[in-house]
Amino acid sequence: MKFLTVLGARPQFIKAAPVSRELRKNHEELIVHTGQHYDKNMSDIFFEELHIPKPDFHLGIGSASHGKQTGEMLAKIEDIILQEKPDYVLVYGDTNSTLAGALAAAKLHVPVVHIEAGLRSFNKRMPEEINRIMTDHVSEFLFCPTDTAIKNLTDENMKHNVINVGDVMYDAVEYNRQLAENNSDILNTFGLTSKEYHLITVHRAENTDDPEKISSILAAFSEIEEVKVWPMHPRTKHVIERLNLSLDNIPNLMIVEPVGYLDMLKLESNAKKILTDSGGVQKEAYFMEVPCVTLREQTEWVETLESEANILVGTDKEQILAAVNKEVTPTYKNLFGDAKAAEKIANYFN
Ligand code: UD1
Ligand code: UDP
Repeated sequence: MKFLTVLGARPQFIKAAPVSRELRKNHEELIVHTGQHYDKNMSDIFFEELHIPKPDFHLGIGSASHGKQTGEMLAKIEDIILQEKPDYVLVYGDTNSTLAGALAAAKLHVPVVHIEAGLRSFNKRMPEEINRIMTDHVSEFLFCPTDTAIKNLTDENMKHNVINVGDVMYDAVEYNRQLAENNSDILNTFGLTSKEYHLITVHRAENTDDPEKISSILAAFSEIEEVKVWPMHPRTKHVIERLNLSLDNIPNLMIVEPVGYLDMLKLESNAKKILTDSGGVQKEAYFMEVPCVTLREQTEWVETLESEANILVGTDKEQILAAVNKEVTPTYKNLFGDAKAAEKIANYFN
């Protein structure tokens, strides 16, 4: 079978690594990189580190408003589908690149394969929620990471080709965690001691586009004494600059550039706690058995909330501080499959 994979944002490169590896054993795959993420440390670094095949098409779309970005992708992906005539178009997750790929294919009657289908936060103010609902509803094959995702789709009357294969991000972590532990020198580079720092990531639009929320998050950080390392997403960097927010009153804070995947896994596994609004990082905290504090009002990864492995705090300063200071003793379960999600997806089309 001939697959056309559409991707464009950091978490999609990580998800594509295990899937492309498995898919190419028995199928042909062409990769379209929309260019949604374009800085070296948001894109190229992952292709190099994770040996993801080089994209066959690079659309160079870059940053823009939702409509402009998605629309430009849509037009260019349509041309490629018409030219390449794939049997399937494969998309990951819930970004604008996901939606553009899915819409372009569905309108041309090419079956859409959605990996990481069925997630819901039930908050339509999140761009991701709109992207994932739309994508699920035009997809023919919905590969879900969890039972909750299956239930969400069943509740929306989607039952055909809805399969729980486990989470491809778990595949990626299992494949790379030892490599990261052995090869990443990031703790030395940053002068960090294992379990004596917190790891921070913040980038979601619902936090960064709301001056009150981002200010409240920073106010909470200013009352956390422990060492904090924060690989800052460019979106957040730009917001902090634009709003002229000061980070000077946050003690023991290390702001660093976004890091590669192996360095990130090493930073995660050695952190005392992880404070994040990222979808992927919440799950990786769970896989690494590192307590997580999620700076969001809702999470689609509800399983991680069991036994306080992940505490959902929103952006209220006191709630953030209470969760960070709380002693937790989570029990971790195997809720995300057996790290063979990519193989199951590829085999489905044999
Ligand atoms: C996108 C996804 C989000 C995902 C995130 C992963 C959408 C609507 N959002 O958010 O779901 O969690 O990717 O990281 O698709 N920028 C750069 N360099 C880059 C990329 C972005 O400077 O390489 C800056 C630009 O100022 C840009 C801003 O970041 O305007 C936001 O980028 P964009 O791709 O629109 O959304 P993300 O916040 O990255
Ligand atoms: N990540 C990374 N370097 C960083 C921050 C994140 O490699 O500096 C990885 C992280 O390990 C996870 C993925 O990027 O695999 C998550 O992507 P992101 O947080 O950008 O998006 P989300 O998952 O929220 O959509």
